[in-house]
Amino acid sequence: MKGVVLAGGTGSRLSPLTRVTNKHLLPVYDKPMVYYPIQTLVNAGIHEILVVTGGKNAGDFLRLLGNGRDFGLKHINYTYQEGEGGIAEALGLAEYFAARDSICVVLGDNIIESNIHHAVENFQRQKEGAKILLKEVSDAHRFGVAEIRGERVLKIEEKPKNPKSNYAVIGIYLYDCTVFDKIHRLKPSGRGELEITDVNNAYIEQGKLTYEVLRGWWTDAGTFESLLRANNLVAETGANKMEIARQQVAL
Ligand code: G1P
Repeated sequence: MKGVVLAGGTGSRLSPLTRVTNKHLLPVYDKPMVYYPIQTLVNAGIHEILVVTGGKNAGDFLRLLGNGRDFGLKHINYTYQEGEGGIAEALGLAEYFAARDSICVVLGDNIIESNIHHAVENFQRQKEGAKILLKEVSDAHRFGVAEIRGERVLKIEEKPKNPKSNYAVIGIYLYDCTVFDKIHRLKPSGRGELEITDVNNAYIEQGKLTYEVLRGWWTDAGTFESLLRANNLVAETGANKMEIARQQVAL
């Protein structure tokens, strides 16, 4: 399995913080934001990583991350998104990197407390399709929202006015190699972007989307409120913690 971190976009919701830099380079407590999604992948045992960036500050990612020494990596791959075509368009740029392997995609502004290696292992046993991670929230209208019945996701709605559940689709997605065929078939949404929610709904239509509910806290960091929350959560409890059992094995 390979990892993809999506770190493009203009970060307009954080202007003027993002006027002269990329959102994912802003600090979250003691590290730049993009460190957290990369660490999420590394902690899950995924070491072949592509960072998709864009905008005017793409070179700063190379200066900051280099070959990934801060994460114990020997190499990081980079690619560049021209313009503002949305999350699914950015992911489409990972097609050659993925080379028909399955991928774990993490949005560059998503920060989690725990380790997703269980979900990754479960997905590898699934053999095909996709897996999303859900988290119960009180402000579901800000996110993709999953309508679930038992073990099944019936549909995902992007930022619905009247959410059908409190389960937000967090920005960590596991996909088989058919994800790129699905992206090629997408049409831009009302806001002119290729939506990751449409990719996930395409897997639902095929009956090939599973879900798990994430343990530990999760936050995005793309608005002033959520960026402040991310800073506080990381400062108070730490992010990307390895699970105790894993730590014991390592010791
Ligand atoms: C994106 C996705 C949304 C998801 C969210 C998680 O929204 O479109 O489905 O719930 O990330 O952070 P954005 O915040 O980029 O608008």
